[in-house]
Amino acid sequence: MFSRVTGCTIVGIEGKPVDVEVFLSSQLPSFDIVGLPDTAVREARDRVRAAIKNSSFHFPPQRIVVNLAPADVKKEGPQLDLALAIGILRASGQLAAEETDRVYLGELALDGTLRPVRGVLPMVLAARDAGCRKLLLPLANAAEASLVQGVDIIGVTSLEEAVAVLTGRQQPPPLPRTVSKKEKTAADFITVKGQESAKRALEVAAAGGHNVLMTGPPGSGKTMLARCVPSVLPPMTEEESMETTKIYSAAGLLPENSGLITVRPFRSPHHTLTPAALCGGGKNPRPGEVSLAHNGVLFLDEMPEFRRETLEVLRQPLEEGTVTVTRLQAAITYPSRFMLLASMNPCPCGMLTDTEAECICSERQIHAYRHKISGPLLDRIDLFVDVARLRYDEVAGRGQGEPSKAIAERVAAARRLQSRRFAGDGIRCNAEMLPQHIQQYCVPDAAGRDLLRHAFNRLRLTARAYDRILKVARTIADLEGEKNILPHHLAEAISYRQTMAF
Ligand SMILES: Nc1ncnc2c1ncn2[C@@H]1O[C@H](COP(=O)(O)OP(=O)(O)OP(=O)(O)O)[C@@H](O)[C@H]1O
Ligand SMILES: [Mg+2]
Ligand SMILES: [Zn+2]
Repeated sequence: MFSRVTGCTIVGIEGKPVDVEVFLSSQLPSFDIVGLPDTAVREARDRVRAAIKNSSFHFPPQRIVVNLAPADVKKEGPQLDLALAIGILRASGQLAAEETDRVYLGELALDGTLRPVRGVLPMVLAARDAGCRKLLLPLANAAEASLVQGVDIIGVTSLEEAVAVLTGRQQPPPLPRTVSKKEKTAADFITVKGQESAKRALEVAAAGGHNVLMTGPPGSGKTMLARCVPSVLPPMTEEESMETTKIYSAAGLLPENSGLITVRPFRSPHHTLTPAALCGGGKNPRPGEVSLAHNGVLFLDEMPEFRRETLEVLRQPLEEGTVTVTRLQAAITYPSRFMLLASMNPCPCGMLTDTEAECICSERQIHAYRHKISGPLLDRIDLFVDVARLRYDEVAGRGQGEPSKAIAERVAAARRLQSRRFAGDGIRCNAEMLPQHIQQYCVPDAAGRDLLRHAFNRLRLTARAYDRILKVARTIADLEGEKNILPHHLAEAISYRQTMAF
């Protein structure tokens, strides 16, 4: 006796349909699953057997062999449980096969309850793209599944209910509606007093998608400034929304019944996080912070406090916009295009650059502190920003800063120029320019070249830093709506590289 049903699994942030073939034969009772890793087999077997027994069905006392195809797709996690159970019920004649194909998703608890799984959005998209139009899955995942157009979703809460609905004995429960959650309004630059040059630098960064390191004494407002950046970033495109929502779904971080994510993420991981938590991975691999920040901001507050090996793994995502997690046999790639914002004190005590206070650190301590951030990582930062402590009159004054809305409009205008410029180039903003784009779009005039030569020698720049200056200058020109890169654009871009001893 034989049955075939379709399930789905997830690899990275992409769903992969899986054929579940169940063979029953009248030999000594046994239950084998071919095509899963050992521990996953053991766990799935236990759950499926108990769920069937505890749902007023009988578990066939026969030899059961389940084959999962394709064999080369890594199948992890419990999302195949429901497909396995439905396959066994069909092969043993307890449930008739349907005429049209349907995809089954969900984890079974021992008592037969159907539990939500992560990665539903990518799995439903993959099922639809493979031609399956009908899905049966946990009710708690139904709202997320219904974000996909053109599929017919049924959500149930148990194996028992799944069968009752499939046999027509029960109407499917109504689908929960997605509630777009009240978006926390991001901090607004209007609350920031003074700090005009830091705000300008962050505007440039937002306009071109550039990476920033802010340096300044404790309490100067670095954290506050960083938290305002999302309020000036351009709105997400539909494609970006879908991509980011898929990542959160795969990570199991999408709140129940939430709609698509439409606000750019702002991730601010604690400095104790491990390299795996930053870049992704684990036994059942999940996206890390660099992917959760995809299309948004990754903020590393107090960057030197992070472990050096943690910072080192940032190099690939910063350079390539993706991160590869290698597992036993498979390599999984997650998207990770984010804007890096980092902050640090100039020295361990924080007072080195302060004009009023005395720094109590030794040369050695200062060197060791800065050395925690390696040269190659610093090379990937476009703007270095000094954030000075506010003067008394600035703190006491009521002078309101410019509201984020006004800044956001300039940023959006600059981004529009970039979208037009890069249409067909496969990149979205100036920060993503490759050498060929720099050659094409960042051509300084003779005076500009003079300025660059001078800065190159004086600041002992690397070739990479040189390219970064050109990219930042391009953004500054875009903010002015200027087609050509003029010397004053370059001068400002260069000024963002001479902070401190970096
Ligand atoms: N420019 C500013 N305008 C208004 N308030 C400010 C400003 N700078 C700092 N503050 C106030 O000081 C507090 C501390 O600032 P913040 O935490 O951003 O400093 P920091 O530079 O991150 O310090 P640390 O190095 O200790 O982390 C803020 O919560 C805010 O209330
Ligand atoms: Mg801070
Ligand atoms: Zn110090």
